[in-house]
Amino acid sequence: MRKKIVAGNWKMNLNLQEGVALATELNAALTADKPNCDVVICTPFIHLASVANVLDANLIGLGAENCADKVSGAYTGEVSAAMVKSTGAQYVILGHSERRAYYGETAEILKEKVNLALANGLKVIFCIGEVLEEREAEKQNEVVKAQLEGSLFDLTAEQFSNIILAYEPVWAIGTGKTATAEQAEEMHAFIRSTIADKFGAEAAENVSILYGGSCKPSNAKEIFAKPNVDGGLIGGAALKCADFKGIIDAWKA
Ligand code: PGA
Repeated sequence: MRKKIVAGNWKMNLNLQEGVALATELNAALTADKPNCDVVICTPFIHLASVANVLDANLIGLGAENCADKVSGAYTGEVSAAMVKSTGAQYVILGHSERRAYYGETAEILKEKVNLALANGLKVIFCIGEVLEEREAEKQNEVVKAQLEGSLFDLTAEQFSNIILAYEPVWAIGTGKTATAEQAEEMHAFIRSTIADKFGAEAAENVSILYGGSCKPSNAKEIFAKPNVDGGLIGGAALKCADFKGIIDAWKA
């Protein structure tokens, strides 16, 4: 059975003290009321080691929001997959639309990042999704398929088993405009069939596909109820313990 996952993406928010305080609060809340799903928080690099210290690793996974496309060396300002792993983190988000749009991350660059993350024992939360004009032109399926092909299709099925996919329609990120549960389900089913064609039925059955984009406690339950939606990648609502926990609790009956 594939995993149900709620993952937080803090983006460039919270200073170190605020981040440690939020992680501490979330750890206490989930210790008191155990989740029915895997929970992961992805934080800025500088938070990782300190946040790892306050999390019960059996309860909450930890991830970075990016890593370098190079192994090591003279790449000023970059943080490698090995460095991320050494903090205690187990996950890394790659291919987020903000990285693609604002930092020029191409499918080719992302392929390098994915390879290095996997080689260093990190699980990858790989984001895909179309922009509004592409959806309006009904090109969302081909866009998402090209994103998968461009960065993941050289992996072996064994490597692919460490990938979590996150479908994030760009028009729904931080806009308050959520995809409908039907739109999410339709795309998730398409993604799963694309994975089946490439990696086989078992890989497709086992891969968790998260929805991301203005997911909130008030809409999570309806979206997560869809058969091909295995959880969420949460931005804004991951910055408040009560909101994030509200989304985690969407997996409870
Ligand atoms: P949002 O962000 O929940 O604030 O829309 C989701 C994401 O970008 O991962």
